[in-house]
Amino acid sequence: MPGMLLGDAFPNFEAETTIGKIKLHEFLGDSWGVLFSHPRDYTPVCTTELGRAARLSTEFSKRNVKMIALSIDCLEDHHSWSKDILAYNCEDSDCRSLPFPIIADSKRELAVALGMLDPDEKDKDGLPLTARCVFIIGPDKRLKLSILYPATTGRNFDEILRAVDSLQATAGKRVSTPADWKPGDCVMVPASMPEEEAAALFPAGVYTKTCPLARSTCATPRSSEHDGDTPDSQHSFM
Ligand code: BEZ
Repeated sequence: MPGMLLGDAFPNFEAETTIGKIKLHEFLGDSWGVLFSHPRDYTPVCTTELGRAARLSTEFSKRNVKMIALSIDCLEDHHSWSKDILAYNCEDSDCRSLPFPIIADSKRELAVALGMLDPDEKDKDGLPLTARCVFIIGPDKRLKLSILYPATTGRNFDEILRAVDSLQATAGKRVSTPADWKPGDCVMVPASMPEEEAAALFPAGVYTKTCPLARSTCATPRSSEHDGDTPDSQHSFM
């Protein structure tokens, strides 16, 4: 089945969007990217999601992430639906247009190629709708994270932002983030790293927890002490 796997080079597809024709790689430039798909224009859950995405767009920009949506309807519908999204979600903001483009994929070519269809949700002609898919693409144009929800489950865009934070904090570094991590919390280094090495990497301090079967050691320096370019967070290792 076609689709995208973590680490795959993301295709430089050409698409008609609400800001004109784009080629994905040129659109993204050196930024990170979030591509999120929707079952259909004008549908209620999608309207809440695009509104939430619009309200968080400055947070994505701060992280150097470009957003782009996809829905399997035509441009005309996208433009008209955008007004609904803004009216429903952004009444108290100055937002006059959506801060990201929407790809028109009325022939479902991209949705099929990228593995975005939901076989359980069909339109009136019996054709599958798009699932709620999220692809986070790195500046190297490779897929860093994917989330696939069925059409009936709306996504949590705060979680997508949190996942971006984790991806950016861990990219190219020997650290990972634990459950429910958020910027400012401890991160973890591999269990294989000797305590002395961790202590050298994180000179502000380390601590160790012992579980019945495994050692778990934590360090509490600020990330700037690791290699100078991670976010402002603490580190731990196990
Ligand atoms: C919605 O966006 O409301 C929706 C779309 C497809 C299936 C179910 C809900």
